Amino acid sequence: MRIIIDTDPAMGTLGGDPEDCFAIMLALNTPEVVVEGITIVQGNVPAEQGYANARHLLALLNREDVPLLPGCLRPMSGTRTTQIDLLERRYGMKQITDMIDPPPGNPDAASFLIETVLASPGEITLVTIGPLTNVATAMQLSPEFSAGIQAVVMMGGAAACAGNISPAAEFNYWQDPEAADIVFRSGVPLTMVGLDVCHKTQLLPAQVEECTGAGSTLGQFVLEATRPWFKAMAGGEGRESLHLYDSLAMAVAIDPSLATFEDSYVAVEIGDGPAQGMSVSYHKPFQRWIVRHPETNARVALDVDVGRFNEIFQARVLDRIK
Ligand code: RIB
Ligand code: CA
Repeated sequence: MRIIIDTDPAMGTLGGDPEDCFAIMLALNTPEVVVEGITIVQGNVPAEQGYANARHLLALLNREDVPLLPGCLRPMSGTRTTQIDLLERRYGMKQITDMIDPPPGNPDAASFLIETVLASPGEITLVTIGPLTNVATAMQLSPEFSAGIQAVVMMGGAAACAGNISPAAEFNYWQDPEAADIVFRSGVPLTMVGLDVCHKTQLLPAQVEECTGAGSTLGQFVLEATRPWFKAMAGGEGRESLHLYDSLAMAVAIDPSLATFEDSYVAVEIGDGPAQGMSVSYHKPFQRWIVRHPETNARVALDVDVGRFNEIFQARVLDRIK
């Protein structure tokens, strides 16, 4: 399986959600997966910091062979002032990885996505674990791009549960509603791994302490980078645990049998009201009948085998950090 990971990695920016990096490790530690590249997008942290964090992680994993491309710095629409304000406030967060500029002549994420997909039509799956700005930008730049994509597996949205960044919306889609709308209208085979299933996963501080006990450089980095997020989650959700959003999406991309899906017509709210970024999933046929939209544009995950996922995560991430 050949994939490109599009991500907003915050492990290395204290206070950001570190979880993208676990998903990257899971992919790199899965023998049947070839990671053709990692593209960085604005989201949890500005893309400049995300690039530095990903570079640092790849160095710790001895995987600097994996192409790493910097991507979009802001949401597609400059009117998303709340999202832009939140993002820009994050420049002030403590950075524990060295800021590094991409090599001169490095293509940007959208160019890399287009070139890689069009060089191997129908062979590349995009696993998106951040906002969809890079992918939507590539879709707008290249008319052939969408048709060349084998599939897109997204961590994003919510089909039948409340949001997380707002009562209505999940963060990745909320951070760039226009981008999510473009992707859902693209006709590409889409899998939405949303909060409905991601919120069934959790990682506890004790698990991180256990797997980093040997004191490896990677372990010390993971321990330091996750600690503030556990604290933030304790304050926010009242318990020191984090959800493995992106790792679950990655695991489902690799082994779809982990999840139970429904075909759905998903529409994204792109207005500027309180429901902006909401993914409205018409996964019940009568709902599509009522809105006279019988076609579906995605499959949405409504249940997951958490036990089997936890085994995969333990074997391919936690046991490999030691
Ligand atoms: O809503 C969850 C998503 O937002 C995950 O991708 C997590 O990394 C954060 O970016
Ligand atoms: Ca993410």
